[in-house]
Amino acid sequence: MSFTVAIDGPAAAGKGTISKGVAAHFGFAHLDTGLLYRAVGRRTLDGMEPVASARALTAEELEQGDLRTAQIAQAASKVAVIPDVRTALVGFQRAFARRPGGAVLDGRDIGTVICPRAEVKLFVTASAEVRAERRYLELNAKGADVTRDQVLADVRERDARDAERSTAPMKPAEDAILLDTSELSIEAALAQAVALVEQKRPAT
Ligand code: DC
Repeated sequence: MSFTVAIDGPAAAGKGTISKGVAAHFGFAHLDTGLLYRAVGRRTLDGMEPVASARALTAEELEQGDLRTAQIAQAASKVAVIPDVRTALVGFQRAFARRPGGAVLDGRDIGTVICPRAEVKLFVTASAEVRAERRYLELNAKGADVTRDQVLADVRERDARDAERSTAPMKPAEDAILLDTSELSIEAALAQAVALVEQKRPAT
């Protein structure tokens, strides 16, 4: 039997940490779907064609190298606008969602397009300023040479592109539960997410 948790929201809202934490708590598999777009984005930076790259993508590629750079994030957001790129990645995501034992998928369109019948849908948000500050601290800790203003501009640019594209734009599903983490510690946000999943989980 499958049980799918869909977690969507903008960059640096806490989706990744919450998704990993929920998956660990319940023993579910976890897929960060942003990595799929990042892997395709990286290939385009190497001069490859995005649709062919998306079609040829393998699970192993998601593990290779550091896909979490600001440059790859922008490239990912750009290839994510292309409908054929998105279509090429649907099958992998849906198969993952059906894993026996439960799955958590996080991204932008999981609750709306990839898994519209997910048992639990969360939309995790925070103000752009709070998200940019978190991302800045993260990048800074990795030794990246960025300023707060650059990171905020980057977050805003990516939000706008992700929310305004015509295919599968980032938006909460009608039945998603909103979780605003602007004023929550990561522990408190994770505890709320775990409690919400617990309520919907079939009794064992
Ligand atoms: O979650 P992330 O920051 O790693 O995502 C990188 C980009 O990939 C994001 O700006 C938009 C795109 N993306 C998407 O369009 N749909 C998803 N389900 C996940 C990511």
